[in-house]
Amino acid sequence: MANDRFLKACRREPVDAVPVWFMRQAGRYLPEYRKVRARHSFLEVCRTPELAARVTLQPVARLGVDAAILFSDILILVEAMGAPVEFPEGRGPVLGRLARDRSDLDYLRVPDPLADLAFVLEAIRILRRELAGRVPLIGFCGLPFTLASYLVEGGKPRDFRKLRTLMRDSPKVYSALMDKLARAVTASADAQLAAGAQAVQLFDTWAGALEPADYEAWVLPYTRRVAEGINRRGAPLIHYAGDCRRLLPLLRTLPVDVLAVDRSVPLDEAAQAVGPSFALQGNLDPEALLKPLPELEAAAAEVLRRGRAAAGHIFNLGRGILPETDPEAARSLVEAVHRLGSKRRG
Ligand code: CP3
Repeated sequence: MANDRFLKACRREPVDAVPVWFMRQAGRYLPEYRKVRARHSFLEVCRTPELAARVTLQPVARLGVDAAILFSDILILVEAMGAPVEFPEGRGPVLGRLARDRSDLDYLRVPDPLADLAFVLEAIRILRRELAGRVPLIGFCGLPFTLASYLVEGGKPRDFRKLRTLMRDSPKVYSALMDKLARAVTASADAQLAAGAQAVQLFDTWAGALEPADYEAWVLPYTRRVAEGINRRGAPLIHYAGDCRRLLPLLRTLPVDVLAVDRSVPLDEAAQAVGPSFALQGNLDPEALLKPLPELEAAAAEVLRRGRAAAGHIFNLGRGILPETDPEAARSLVEAVHRLGSKRRG
């Protein structure tokens, strides 16, 4: 039977139970994922549509989540733009070519998704076939600021010093970079929706590193351009920002359907801050999955209780699931959310 509670909750329609999925739900905590990874590198999995599709389906089968999220990475797009990316075992991603001055920008190009991201689009087509309507498929992109953080800092950003320097000392180079990224992100999201993705989540993991005034001046305009530029074909857009509490008054000006929030703000407070025109997604602490089941259930119940203040609620974690998570705990959490969050009205 088709399960559309995720899409309904995104649209703030009544649902029979609160939908749930997890950021990074396909990954190293699953033995079946580690089995695939024992034979293929992370990038190989991303670039091979059959493997990406197989791994995407693993948490759907094991956990009973209400949505599948395409297995890929936000930096795949950066690579398609001409900046090689590596994922060394046990460390954050490393970029082979940086963007720090005007001449660096010349090598970055806006990819043609049909040619340069064909493997992503093929994975989406395979998944829609294999899911056969069981649960909706979410596509995703990183937003320009988070992608620029990696391109300018060279890897997982720590203090954002180089990016801040670029903004302050070379604002024209910064805006040219952000503009190119915005065009690439829009094209990629468009192509994913055209290929069959039923929602798109836009990740701005590092947005909270900036003061709200700087976020408003340096980031929000590009995010808005992306959100406005995507041909949505009726599909919901989800915006995720890390450390988002102080940004909510700005995020509520974006033309998106769902605001995904991290642990920096309880959902009832977030609902108050953004008003009734957004569904909220989040925001259990992933550490809760490492605790005994009664504690995990209590933490989930608290998130559900606060989530009732929102115009729609999609249960998720505040950030990606931890590699040390027991898959059985994740399965129990899905069951508990459905049980405790049943018959939610819009
Ligand atoms: O959510 C999903 O299951 C879909 C797949 C997905 C991955 N990365 C797979 C992945 C998604 C949506 C992402 C998004 C992503 N990637 C973000 C934004 C969301 C977030 O987590 O804040 C960011 C910042 C990245 C960049 C990135 N990719 C980092 C920092 C790392 C290394 C850290 C880590 O967890 O290993 C990656 C690698 C990565 N992306 C892995 C996975 C499953 C681990 C690769 C492996 O060793 O198998």
